[in-house]
Amino acid sequence: MRSVHPFNRGWLFAPRDLALSAPDSAFSRVSLPHTNIELPHHSFDNAEYQFISTYRQRFSLPEPLNGRRLFIDFEGAMTAYTVTINGHDLGEYRGGYTPSSFELTQHVFDNGDENLLQVRLDSTERPDIPPNGGIVDYLTFGGIYREVSLRYVEPLHVTDAFARGIDLLTYKPRVGLDVTVTNRTAFDENAVLYATVAGATGLVADGSHQVHIPAGATRTFTLDMPLENATLWSRETPALYTVNICLDYVSGGGDPHDVYTFQTGFREAKFTPEGFFLNGEKIKLVGLNRHQSYPYVGYAAPKRMQRKDADILKDELGVNIVRTSHYPQSRHFLDRCDEIGLLVFEEIPGWQYIGEEDWKDLSVGYVESMVVRDRNHPSIILWGVRINESQDDEYFYRATNAKAHELDPTRQTGGVRNFQESQFLEDVFTYNDFSNTVIPPNNTPYLVTEYNGHMYPTKSYDSEAQQVEHALRHVRVQEASFATEATSGAIGWCAFDYNTHRHFGAGDRICYHGVMDIFRLPKFAAYVYETMPDASVRPVVRAATVWTFGENEAAGVEPLYIFTNCEQVEVYKGDWKWGTFSPDRESYPHLPHPPVKVIGFSLMSMVGESYEDLRVVGLVNGQPVVEQSLSSKGVMHALTLQADDEALEADGADMTRMVFRIVDEYGNRLPYCTSVVSFEISGPGVLVGENPFPLVGGHAAIYLRATETAGEVTVTARTRGLAPASVTVRVGQA
Ligand code: GAL
Repeated sequence: MRSVHPFNRGWLFAPRDLALSAPDSAFSRVSLPHTNIELPHHSFDNAEYQFISTYRQRFSLPEPLNGRRLFIDFEGAMTAYTVTINGHDLGEYRGGYTPSSFELTQHVFDNGDENLLQVRLDSTERPDIPPNGGIVDYLTFGGIYREVSLRYVEPLHVTDAFARGIDLLTYKPRVGLDVTVTNRTAFDENAVLYATVAGATGLVADGSHQVHIPAGATRTFTLDMPLENATLWSRETPALYTVNICLDYVSGGGDPHDVYTFQTGFREAKFTPEGFFLNGEKIKLVGLNRHQSYPYVGYAAPKRMQRKDADILKDELGVNIVRTSHYPQSRHFLDRCDEIGLLVFEEIPGWQYIGEEDWKDLSVGYVESMVVRDRNHPSIILWGVRINESQDDEYFYRATNAKAHELDPTRQTGGVRNFQESQFLEDVFTYNDFSNTVIPPNNTPYLVTEYNGHMYPTKSYDSEAQQVEHALRHVRVQEASFATEATSGAIGWCAFDYNTHRHFGAGDRICYHGVMDIFRLPKFAAYVYETMPDASVRPVVRAATVWTFGENEAAGVEPLYIFTNCEQVEVYKGDWKWGTFSPDRESYPHLPHPPVKVIGFSLMSMVGESYEDLRVVGLVNGQPVVEQSLSSKGVMHALTLQADDEALEADGADMTRMVFRIVDEYGNRLPYCTSVVSFEISGPGVLVGENPFPLVGGHAAIYLRATETAGEVTVTARTRGLAPASVTVRVGQA
């Protein structure tokens, strides 16, 4: 039988190239996901993570082989690595974003003796490995930054399976289950495949199939099964099903050869010249690009933080699609997108540069790894098979398209380009539109995959006018997208600020292109997306102001923009009601919830006695449903500290974000507050981040990492003149 063991704890790590003979004392103990170096959140050089490091495991097998094969599976390590087991070199894997497997069977001690596994990890920006070779506007942080596991399989086993929905919108929906079986025995084998597909309401499909696999061969078999009473996966109802495949002896009895299980969902996703359709329903796609990098730990964010990013995109930002710019991302992120109904456009690693033949071969291989790894995710609706914004290369891109279509006939391909006249070999014309026209070519499925970004970088502590204009630029493109029926939608650049190379970004090597900052905390532009869903999902009012008359040109707040999904807003200064205002449908007739534009908060209306706190009340059906207040005082009221999670696992890698703010009486950050905040920790945990932290923008975050010890961790933040703030997080046995 198959068995899989997580292999993330008890690694020895050294930030240098060490021989097998190096003593364990040259290493320190770490858990995965792991970054090869912790960095400040900005103003560091990419050379700092570019080095060779060594990871080592001493282990006896968690269970005996019993005739099975044993593999070590890496989900992602940057950039290339060589694995040695008990002195045997198993070769090198090149690629930081796709999984790899090495077979250990022949070289492990199966008698309880200790095995020595060593990984030589090269985290340099190797020009022979995509995305590198040219200049790239993002950083490829080093480390074994995703999980690793040990996998036992019988010589006759399932290597992969793909569940395809067929005729889903007809009265006879089916599932085509492609099961790939490998026979590494010395004999031809006959076996039976049994499959079930079951969800919350029970069984929706099942079937069986007699198979014959010659010795040494790998074969794919298809079970074509009627799908009965299945709920289609959608944004509102992200119904998931468990597919269970049993590879059994013909005679039955005893343990089967293999049991292979995965999750999927059934939906029909189609880009057409008339727009995008999910299960036959037209949806305007509203999205943002996501880089998988985080402050301090680069790429090494654990499962919890990967999932949190999907939640932030869906719940805090309110988008319905994310593009995994510019590479395949964590399975935890994608799993969460499946669970919450967030659509995904996933693409291969790259950025403008195309290398030589060997480089292109790797890229075609990445198409294969990406599609095979992720084709059962219902959230993924499009494969990106072009190097982002690269030149045409017909032969190469015919190969990437063919590979994606061969491995997944159900999904369309896109290839993100930045020039209209580029050769169109894909199914969907995916275009980075920095001129904001949003006009599709004739009769072609069309999706805008980037806008804004470098055209208007904005920091969360930039002036009010800059932040308002940043937000309005997002509003204008979304308005154009909603106005253009034939456009499937628009995915903005980008969700979160990110660290980058010196050729890009601001003076501290951050690209301030996010609608949220690098800590995933909102700028005004975030409100544009936050107000996309209906007020029935969650009512929102956000005045895009710091509410002070000395902030803007010629004083006053003129006009005042209020982002809301309510029908109307009431605006008060102190107790005095300024008026009731409606969304600006004249300027933005197509947006679901245009911002409210209030004219008249000029200098004269704000100075003197009438300069009081601002209060905005959102109305639905004439009733108040939500409100926001902003202080007129501009003084520090409190220091706050909040953890995203109440509990962590004691696995040495689990982490949660801790957001700290200096706020007014209503809990709004003071955007120009530059106080220094320092942190103390007690209990079994480690603080990850700058400590003390000289605040900019009135808010930021550090992270709390669990150790391998359970207990309670208390973190206390302090700053001069305000009461300290504390948070306690429970760390439970993993
Ligand atoms: C695009 C590119 C993105 C990012 C963006 C900045 O051209 O595809 O990766 O660099 O510009 O606006």
